[in-house]
Amino acid sequence: MYLGIDIGTSAVKFILVDAAQEVVASAEEPLAPVQPRPLWSEDDPEKWWQAVATGLDRLARDHAKPMSGVRGIGLSGQMHSAVLLDAADQPVRPAILWNDGRSTREAAELAALGIGLQRETGVLPMPGFTGPKFLWLKRHEPDAVKRTRTLLIAKDFIRLKLSGEKLTDVTDAAGAWLIDQDKRQWSQAALAACGIDAQLLPRLVESRSAGAPLKDDLARRWGLPVNVVIAAGAGDVAAGGIGVGVVNPGDGFVSLGTSAQVFLADTKHLPDPERLVHAFCHGLPDRWFRMAALLNGASPLAAFARWSGEADIAALLQEAEASFTGPSYLLALPYLYGERTPLNDPLARAALVGMTNSTTRADLVQAILESVAFSLADGLDVLTGGSAKPQSLALIGGGARSAFWAKLIASILEVSLVRYDASDRGPAYGAARLARLAVTGEEARAVVIPPPVKDVIAPDPALSEAYRPRIEAFRSLYRALKPVWPLVTGQA
Ligand code: XUL
Repeated sequence: MYLGIDIGTSAVKFILVDAAQEVVASAEEPLAPVQPRPLWSEDDPEKWWQAVATGLDRLARDHAKPMSGVRGIGLSGQMHSAVLLDAADQPVRPAILWNDGRSTREAAELAALGIGLQRETGVLPMPGFTGPKFLWLKRHEPDAVKRTRTLLIAKDFIRLKLSGEKLTDVTDAAGAWLIDQDKRQWSQAALAACGIDAQLLPRLVESRSAGAPLKDDLARRWGLPVNVVIAAGAGDVAAGGIGVGVVNPGDGFVSLGTSAQVFLADTKHLPDPERLVHAFCHGLPDRWFRMAALLNGASPLAAFARWSGEADIAALLQEAEASFTGPSYLLALPYLYGERTPLNDPLARAALVGMTNSTTRADLVQAILESVAFSLADGLDVLTGGSAKPQSLALIGGGARSAFWAKLIASILEVSLVRYDASDRGPAYGAARLARLAVTGEEARAVVIPPPVKDVIAPDPALSEAYRPRIEAFRSLYRALKPVWPLVTGQA
């Protein structure tokens, strides 16, 4: 039995997977990140830990037998965070998250150091990454930085709590903008540019490596065996890829979680910073990936659910599907948190345009679903750069549950989308697989395989044709609204 724990943005997710790779139990504990100022996005690492402990208490109570058979734990989590700890390993301030836009100036200064460093680190420096955020902290919160002895990424703070070890893996280090992606080691040039002393950093290993075991008192608390191995694990995007067996050239996925990605696996590091591609280490030693990283996946729909007072997102999706006749007359932008690929614009915001007095709630929902699909199309364009698209991509993340949304995305991307049995639990499932590899030392190709296919959602050719001109209209709406972003974000 293997336990995967994913420190997501809006929830910690747990999964117990048996030797046949079947999911035996799963659980979720909510998180509540905050936006204390425009452009800021933070959470309290101790709250992540409380959520982990509560979830494991619950799993121990409800699933005592499989918990007693756990041989390994794998960790996954939101990428790019900055968790600063003092000499007693206490957070010196809240963690700064992946969708935080405060370090625009620092990111631009780092970008000015040239394309060579961007190719080495795999991506143009952007405000959400750990490196630029650390530079911002040095300038704006020097006392906090002075007290800092350790700099970690989200899942590695939980590891510290579980085992006492300071360790990270290459995929999370990749997202920090602090490693040489080709060599899979800390980049001395990037550390110097961001003003980070290497002493602050944890040990860096491959995702499938075994780290220190779970502390004895915690093993007793949760009815887990003693000396359970904790694998290094991976950032949520790479762990999602491991979970659906997307590790070979030609394999790819679309992930629709709080954020969204279009992801293609490879056996080489293929940087393309000019196009805002993230070319990062994957969770297997001889693998890399290229990704379009979109900051707004299922979150615009969740936000609309709150605004409209309809808590039941499935009901909203049904309403939109029931009234669907073709592309919406409305246009929306999904940019609640700004956007990375392809805009690098932390100030971009969401919009709904074209409403009349007879506009219905279902119309608004449909426009929001389409806007996320259009931004995924932008992401896929960036990755393929005009060359042939993959014939099919896996679809993972919570948003994968809606066949209606999947149909819109498939038609707008003009790519078939494959949904798997465990599609909606990607990263935690991938983390459990990395735990297994760490424990058994098996060949990855025996374990990191696609799960059973649930269905394949093909594009509808008539819809694809009807949507094509709308993608350009979507792009022009962003360009038209760009002058107002400083005003609406308080940056004017
Ligand atoms: C990827 C990204 C997000 C976070 C949170 O670049 O920013 O996917 O990892 O899920």
